[in-house]
Amino acid sequence: MIAAGMFFLPLSAGGETSRSSAPLPWMNTALGADARADLLLAQMTEDEQLEMVMGYVGADQRLPYGRPPPEALKPFLPGTAGYVPGIPRLGIPALVESDAGLGIANNSRMRPLDQATAFPSGVLTAATWNPALAQQVGAAIGTEARDRGFNVLLGGAMNLAREPRGGRTFEYAGEDPLLAGIIAGAEVSGVQSQHIVSTVKHFALNDQETGRTVLNAVIDEAAARESDLLAFEIAVERSDPGAVMCAYNRVNGTYACENPFLLTNVLKTDWKYPGWVLSDWGAVHSTQDSANAGLDQESAAGFDAKDYFGPPLKQALADGSVSPARLHDMVHRILRSMIAKGLFDYPAEKLTLDLEANRPTAQKDAEEGIVLLKNGAKLLPLSRSVPRIAVIGAHADIGVLSGGGSSQVVPVGHSTADEFPVGGAIQVMRNGAKIFPRGTELFDPPSPLLAIRALAPNATVAYDSGENAQTAALLAKQCDVAIVFASQWMAEGRDVPTLGLPGEQDELIEAVAAANPRTIVVLETGGPVLMPWLARVSAVLEAWYAGSGGAAAIARVLFGDVNPSGKLPLTFPQGDDQLPRPVIPSAAPGMPFDVNYIEGADVGYRWFERKNLTPLFPFGFGLSYTTFRIEGLTANAMNGTVSASVDITNAGTVAGAETVQLYASPPDDNGSNVSRLVGFSKIELKPGEKRRVTIVAEPRLLASFDTAHHAWRMAEGTYRLSAGDSSAALGQAIDVHLPAREFAP
Ligand code: BGC
Repeated sequence: MIAAGMFFLPLSAGGETSRSSAPLPWMNTALGADARADLLLAQMTEDEQLEMVMGYVGADQRLPYGRPPPEALKPFLPGTAGYVPGIPRLGIPALVESDAGLGIANNSRMRPLDQATAFPSGVLTAATWNPALAQQVGAAIGTEARDRGFNVLLGGAMNLAREPRGGRTFEYAGEDPLLAGIIAGAEVSGVQSQHIVSTVKHFALNDQETGRTVLNAVIDEAAARESDLLAFEIAVERSDPGAVMCAYNRVNGTYACENPFLLTNVLKTDWKYPGWVLSDWGAVHSTQDSANAGLDQESAAGFDAKDYFGPPLKQALADGSVSPARLHDMVHRILRSMIAKGLFDYPAEKLTLDLEANRPTAQKDAEEGIVLLKNGAKLLPLSRSVPRIAVIGAHADIGVLSGGGSSQVVPVGHSTADEFPVGGAIQVMRNGAKIFPRGTELFDPPSPLLAIRALAPNATVAYDSGENAQTAALLAKQCDVAIVFASQWMAEGRDVPTLGLPGEQDELIEAVAAANPRTIVVLETGGPVLMPWLARVSAVLEAWYAGSGGAAAIARVLFGDVNPSGKLPLTFPQGDDQLPRPVIPSAAPGMPFDVNYIEGADVGYRWFERKNLTPLFPFGFGLSYTTFRIEGLTANAMNGTVSASVDITNAGTVAGAETVQLYASPPDDNGSNVSRLVGFSKIELKPGEKRRVTIVAEPRLLASFDTAHHAWRMAEGTYRLSAGDSSAALGQAIDVHLPAREFAP
């Protein structure tokens, strides 16, 4: 750290800056970030300012669709997702960017020898309902970034799962704005605790991959503010992310990265966001419109059809179509975030990596996010003395599945033998190249098979690939219990066509279950899947993409070393036809089309409730090896704050954790009493232990957004509060009468 009074140039993460002994007033840590940014800005020429608002392609410079970067920058770009040169003369560090939602990404194998901890998918972390753990995960990812010399992480992926077949559902944090905002916010603040800037992304309404660069999300303002935007609002206020990444798609007719409503009205004015907006890779379509709408930095020049910042922005300044004040604001925001997050005072430097250091954190995340969906006849936890166990399918002899695209980590212990080609269309890039994401399913080692063998050393544990249902069934018949692993690969750039498990996996599960009723299905999926075989299997574990600690976590849950406590962060439908859009909207390649969000703010479970649909498994659902009682609900409304208290008792014989969920049905919600998650609390209880918890309701979820008054408005009337262990099991309910209330966005 640079102490107040010693103001020297830092070493930049990009290695371009050298130390100087000249005193630099903006390095005075006694000053606030804004004041320091202003001191710096006053020293910068217009050309230097223009340099700061233009990023370059890092990783993908060797890909055919990127224009080559300036020669002078070439040494610094390889191995990064993006790069913005620093200004050595003033000691401004370069921005060295990596994708990092689920660990330090290495898509396209841009750093051939670099392996990193694969953290569980975002949806798994959301399933922990544990913000403190999400924060720890973020901090661990932050240290892995610093130690590789990165100082900007393109993390905080948190679009709402309006489209559960969306190819990036695994990266995001589920369907509920409160849960997604809290979990993503916690993870981002963990990253930033390591003096790294994190983004939140993709702002906003980038909820499907099909046609993501051309689609137009159509939604009314109130509904957007109450759903997708609310999730971002909560994450932004909880984490103060250094940057926000604007999305590829259009929103109500205007591209997200040149959308004044999103960037200026909502983000910067209503939410008073002080950081900078950077574009997604190839999401910029204009100079003047983008700059004046609130875009602060064009990322990855060469991905856009042409350069829009850089020389064209200089021209726009010269002809007055963009004001110097706007350029100053862009640069101020970037510098301010860099200073506030510690990029000047705690520069990231490449260190020797301890590759195993964060596996325990990844494993803890997986252990808390695995969801037990069914446990017939209490088959689980398995006894260690089961003589013969069949492990079948999904490359369980290799590792656990991970999702594809820019978030892809090359995990510690990886070998190319852990990758398998996937069928199906690969995204076609502008020049026709079919290159991203790689059409490979990558499995994170170690294998569940080894982890199961380790916990049941006296059992015979036999493996069958599941390619032939008959041989798998035969093995299952010869064993006391059969564990079938089933997987669904998801990747950025392509949606899955259906929630059904791909390939012949349903048939495999049916065959194994017919041969041995003591069949356990372990799902490795990006999001919800259909389970036509549910009635015929004994137990189901949703293990998502569980990462480097996943195998151990799955085995520990199976044998009861860990009592499962994950809860679904999204609804599992009974069929695609229960979704607001049974077929994913699309058009001929490259042709624009609308996606009409007819569900408005009623995303996920709220849609199911509004339409009176019964899902396969409801939002918030998850079983435990113990049982909990939730009772004694009381409510308290004082000075505009509504809270509820409830007793939770562990009525079983093993320790466990329960997430109590508080839902509210506001009186003015079209009279249909659709409930919304307004708060939650996860607590650990020993057998027999009872505790009373108080949950404060998030006021914006008790309110509706009144566009005409530009305010959140709570109607006077009776609000039904209910507490339970899922959105569908609301045993306890209480009515509270609340006065009318209005508050600013
Ligand atoms: C993705 C972003 C990612 C960027 C850089 C884009 O294709 O949408 O999430 O951060 O690439 O890799």
